[in-house]
Amino acid sequence: KKTVKDIAVQGKRVLVRVDFNVPLAGQAITDDTRIRKALPTIRYLIEQGARVILASHLGRPKGEVVEKYRLTPVARRLSELLGRPVNKVDDSVGEAVKQAVAALQDGDVLLLENVRFQPGETKNDANYARQLAELADIFVNDAFGAAHRAHASTAGVAAYLPAVAGLLMEQELLNLGQAVNNPARPFVAVIGGAKVSDKIGVIENLLNKVDTLIIGGGMANTFLRAQGCPTGNSLVEEDKVEVAGELMERARNRRVSLLLPGDVVVAEALAATAPHRVVPAGEVPAGWLILDIGPASAAQFAAVIKQAATVVWNGPMGVFEMEPFAKGTEAVARALADSPALTVIGGGDSVAAVNKVGVADKISHISTGGGASLEFLEGKELPGVAVLQDK
Ligand code: 3PG
Repeated sequence: KKTVKDIAVQGKRVLVRVDFNVPLAGQAITDDTRIRKALPTIRYLIEQGARVILASHLGRPKGEVVEKYRLTPVARRLSELLGRPVNKVDDSVGEAVKQAVAALQDGDVLLLENVRFQPGETKNDANYARQLAELADIFVNDAFGAAHRAHASTAGVAAYLPAVAGLLMEQELLNLGQAVNNPARPFVAVIGGAKVSDKIGVIENLLNKVDTLIIGGGMANTFLRAQGCPTGNSLVEEDKVEVAGELMERARNRRVSLLLPGDVVVAEALAATAPHRVVPAGEVPAGWLILDIGPASAAQFAAVIKQAATVVWNGPMGVFEMEPFAKGTEAVARALADSPALTVIGGGDSVAAVNKVGVADKISHISTGGGASLEFLEGKELPGVAVLQDK
């Protein structure tokens, strides 16, 4: 895709869709990663003398003004990070916005209000998209995290303006694309999280690509059940047991090695204080719950990861928010960090895990996308990417 570096931006009004959908506790931003990751594009545009107009969503306000979803705290944080003023308006379109844009000088930065305060945003309404487009000369999409949404500010607006990728978008597409479409081998994917139903598409697509597929977390229970293992009171998606069996069959046919935990940590209840112990995966006692992979599985998975040349990881291996059930996820995080492979992580929980273990800087690429990175791993074309000009 063409990027912001492939076009002339000096003196131009550049509408940049960013993903500033950051977690908030009241007015405090509890994780500003997504703002930091947008800085290279914003700084580049400032240096080039563009007039920068930033647009983002925050939360899901459903087309009306919801005070707690205003971008005011984001403007403040962005201004601190940039070390320069960031002016913010109270809407994303309309007269006041037009005036604020008209007042911009080269190198200035303006933040529009939450685009989801407008009902046209999530409907990808052409009228709203055109109003956004009228503010600018160029559209830059740097919001990889929202690129799986076909909304007015991520996709619709590109019908009216030259549309190119931002530098974060470029990094995301390069790294995820390299891993999934042109991987150095062995290529290992580690998929976890609570539910198989969220990741069937991802597993199906990855079975065409990987050498080894490691499955852990709550979703592994459904696969264990498909193998005939007793799972006690563990979370199992009964209606997905058959699909799990089919996926295992497909792995065999494709000669993909599909690894499930051979031992598991079981507890009497879903509580950090509950009695717990390690048992073979086939011997979960009645009434107990699987809450993590066991130490032998963690060691096996780590060894496989260390032999890999490409690793993609999405989803925790257990209930890692609770200390007694965090070890499997932490072992995977460390194994990725110690690996010389191209390591790519997507999804909030895996990202939280590498942050917790303190190894985020040892990972090749940590995606800012949750749903977007999953859809990428499913092999889908993301609407916010499809609209960008090709090189
Ligand atoms: C995300 O946090 O994954 C993105 O910002 C998309 O948000 P959404 O799921 O509300 O569209």
